[in-house]
Amino acid sequence: MKTHKLLMPLDMHLHLRDAVMLETVAPLTAYSFSGAIIMPNLVPPVDTLDAVISYKQRIMAAVPNDYFEPYMTLFYKNYDRAFLESVVDKITAIKLYPAGITTNSEGGVSSFDVEEMRETLEAMSDLEIPLCVHGETDGFVMDREAEFMSVYELLATTFPKLKIIMEHITTKAAVEMLDKFENLYATITVHHLILTLDDVVGGMMKPHLFCKPIAKRPEDLDALLNVALQAHPKVMFGSDSAPHPQHAKESCGCAAGVFTAPIALQILCEIFDHYGKLENLQAFVSDNAQSIYGICPEFKEVTLEKRPFVVPEHYGTVVPMYAGETIGWAIESVD
Ligand code: NCD
Ligand code: ZN
Repeated sequence: MKTHKLLMPLDMHLHLRDAVMLETVAPLTAYSFSGAIIMPNLVPPVDTLDAVISYKQRIMAAVPNDYFEPYMTLFYKNYDRAFLESVVDKITAIKLYPAGITTNSEGGVSSFDVEEMRETLEAMSDLEIPLCVHGETDGFVMDREAEFMSVYELLATTFPKLKIIMEHITTKAAVEMLDKFENLYATITVHHLILTLDDVVGGMMKPHLFCKPIAKRPEDLDALLNVALQAHPKVMFGSDSAPHPQHAKESCGCAAGVFTAPIALQILCEIFDHYGKLENLQAFVSDNAQSIYGICPEFKEVTLEKRPFVVPEHYGTVVPMYAGETIGWAIESVD
């Protein structure tokens, strides 16, 4: 049977939530990943040193072993330099949300005024704290990411030493930015390597595939697949696995987020195998992220096997992508 080993997989964009949901989902990622960048969009957001420390403790208490590193982030605000100096050892990045653009982002940035942001972004640049960005405007839903490219350009040129991560990119326009600005990087989810808008609303509406940013056009999918399959050194895997309880998804006001954490590595193997690019998956799921973020994760070796795996209908109250369906790869062991 065909197998494939991955060393120290990293998920560079993950929502773990809190309380019962945290207890449900954190062990699923900790099982097969060495670490993950933890999103700070709790209610209230993670925006103080105490909040970072106590959230990390709650995460560690929710995972069954120590072989998982939660790389903590702060919710972006215009912090002063002294505060950032006091927190730099406890965080791996800062996550910027435009205000109101996605789940729990109300306290985000409402205008991209470079002068207002200068102290924070210069201090982050000096302290080598990467800036992770949810790059969408409040424009027409299919154009939001492309419209945001001018903000990326402004930030990348004004703060040329600041590492800026374009989170969960979904468009050809974002892929093209990677080669235009040295300090721009990107994460790509697994679902955006599979879906277009057609899969979400082209037939029966699929609430469990609805997320921000929404999946786009076939030509966008092709551009994302191309850059991921070649493991472009500026792209990293970030699942954006975003659990919501079933009732919040199967509702007349469906929450945005696709839950992929427990099947992400299996599906990535399936995709990279399908295109004959399995040899590039290691760079996409770990090596690129290690170089970009300068992190050294704990050793973990995941062996995957090419055999049918039936995805569970539920994990607690959460319905995963491909619930009840059979996928082509399974996790055989984790050492
Ligand atoms: C995320 C969530 O639910 O927190 N939702 C999503 O659709 N991706 C927030 C985000 O990353 O935009
Ligand atoms: Zn997210």
